Amino acid sequence: MSFFVFLHFENVTTGTMKRITLIFLLAAASVAANAQISELVRQGQNTQLLIGGKPYIILGGELANSSASSGRYMDSRNTWEYLKESGLNTVLAPVYWELIEPQQGRYDFSTVDYLLKSARANDLKLILLWFGTWKNSMSCYVPSWVKRGFGEEFDLARNSDGNTPEIMTAFSESNVRADSKAFATLMRYLKKADGAEGTVIMVQVENEIGMLGDARDHSRLAQNAYESPVPYEVIYMLESGKANDYIYNIWKSAGGKKDGSWKEVFGEGLEADEIFMAYWYARYTERVAFAGKEEYDIPMFVNTALNSRGRKAGDYPSAGPLAHLMPIWKLAAPSIDLICPDIYDKGYPSWIGQYATPDNQLFIPEIRQEPENGARVFYALGHHAAIGFSPFSIDNMPEEEDYPLKRAYEVLSPALELIAEKQAAGKTYGMIADIGNKETVLRINGIDFKCRHDLTLGWNPEASDPDKWGETSVMIIDMGGDTYLFMGTGVVTTMSPADGNGRVGIERIDEIVFDEYGKMQKMRRLNGDEDHQGRHIRIPFNEYGAQLLKVYRY
Ligand code: DGJ
Repeated sequence: MSFFVFLHFENVTTGTMKRITLIFLLAAASVAANAQISELVRQGQNTQLLIGGKPYIILGGELANSSASSGRYMDSRNTWEYLKESGLNTVLAPVYWELIEPQQGRYDFSTVDYLLKSARANDLKLILLWFGTWKNSMSCYVPSWVKRGFGEEFDLARNSDGNTPEIMTAFSESNVRADSKAFATLMRYLKKADGAEGTVIMVQVENEIGMLGDARDHSRLAQNAYESPVPYEVIYMLESGKANDYIYNIWKSAGGKKDGSWKEVFGEGLEADEIFMAYWYARYTERVAFAGKEEYDIPMFVNTALNSRGRKAGDYPSAGPLAHLMPIWKLAAPSIDLICPDIYDKGYPSWIGQYATPDNQLFIPEIRQEPENGARVFYALGHHAAIGFSPFSIDNMPEEEDYPLKRAYEVLSPALELIAEKQAAGKTYGMIADIGNKETVLRINGIDFKCRHDLTLGWNPEASDPDKWGETSVMIIDMGGDTYLFMGTGVVTTMSPADGNGRVGIERIDEIVFDEYGKMQKMRRLNGDEDHQGRHIRIPFNEYGAQLLKVYRY
C-alpha cells in the first residue's frame, strides 16, 4: 500500500520541511505496516477481533486433521472453492511440526505457503493451528528427530504405574526449547510472508492439551516440580480472590497455607494433582506462545477437550485449559488471549457459557459437524457476542446446497458489520431451543420477548415426532427506535410489557436481505398468515432468514 501526501506550506524553512516530510513518511509507513494487523481489543461491552482496525466475525470451519498436509489432496477436491461457496470467511488449518522441521534446524514452509496462496486466491482468512508438542494430549506430530530422542534428549511424561505414554513432559527444558524454537521460526516466517497482507488472523498454540492416564505427570522432572514450593503468583491468586470457587475451596480444605510444596498447599488427590499439572502445562504453553509473539504478535488461543462425560481427572485429558482451571491458565499463560471450547457432546449452551466470561470472549474453534450448527451459530453470536464459530472437518461437510450451516452463513455473511457494531454496543441477544427447552424469555428495553421453538405451534407435521425436533435459534438485535432485527431459524416470538402494564403490538414486520454493502434492504412486508394476523413474529422451522420488527405500545 502506498500513500501520497500533497501539502502546501508557506513560510516554512527547509529543515522544518524535511522534518515534516519525515514524520509523514513514518506515519504512512506505520499505517501501511499495520493495515491488516489483527488484534483483540475491548470495544464497548465485548472484546472483538479487529483486522486493520475493523471488527471481524469469524464464520469459519476447521479442516480435518490430515487435509492441510497435502495441497494436491486439497486441490483434487476443490476444497478452497467449496469452502468459499459455502459462505465461510475463515479456514482453520493445522501446521504440523513434523512437516515444517523435518530435520532439526532445517525448515520447510511449503505447506504454509500453500495455505497462504490458496486462502488468498479465494479471499479467505486463515487461522493456523500449531500441532507442536501436543495434539489431543499425545505427541504424535513432533518430528521424527524428536521422537527418536524420546527418553534421551527429549523427555516423556510418566504415569504413576511407571508407564510412559507418548506424551512429552511439560517439565523438560529441552522439550520446551525445541518446540518454542520451531514455533518462533514459524511465526517469524509468517511475519515475513504475511505480515503486510494479514491472511493469518490468529494462531492456536498446541491442540487439546491434557494429561491422560493420570491427573498429573509422575516423571522425575515432574516430581521435582511437585515437591518444590508453589510459585508465589499462585498463592497471590488465591489470596487476592482471583481464583474461582473450585480452586479456592480445594486450597482452603487443604488448610489454606501460604507456602509449601504443591502437596502441602493443595493437599493430595486427583483434583489437587490436576491443579499442579494445569499450572505447568500453562507455563509450557506460555513459553511457546511468548516465543512466537516475540517474532510476530498476533492473537493466540488454546482449545480444550471437555470432560463431557463427567469422568475423573486422569480419565479425561486432564489439566488442559478446562473451565474449572481457567484462572490457573490465565495466570500462567498470559500470552494466550483466548481459552476456547471444542464441542463434541450434548449440552452446547451450558458448555459454551463456561467459556464466555468477563475476561474470556467466546470463540468456538471446533464443534462436531452436524446439522444443528445452522442454529447454534446464531445463539453464539447473539447471546455471547462470540468472536466466531467453526465446525470441525469442514472440508467433509455434506454437499447439499441447503445444508443448514451454509444457509445460516448465507444469512449472516452480509450482516457481519452490523452484528459486530451491535455486539460492541451490547445490543445483541440470543436464545436456542430444542425439545427439552422449548421457550426462553428475553427481556429487552422493558419488553419480554417470549421466543419458542417453532414446532410448539403444532402446525408442522413434524411437530408430533419428537425425533424431528432439531435445535432452533434466534438472534435479536436491538436497532433502536422500537425496532428489532430477528435472524435465525425455527423460532416464533410474542411480545408483552415486562411490567405487565398495557400491551406490545406489532406495528410492522419486514423481511430483510442485506446488500453487497451490508445495508439492510426490505423485501416483503410480512403480515397476514406470515405473522398470524399480527399475533407473532416467526422464522419457520427449516427456514433461515432475517426480519425487522417494529413494535408499538398501548
Ligand atoms: C478434537 C481435536 O482437536 C481435533 O483435532 C480432532 O481430533 C477431533 N477432536 C476429533 O476428530
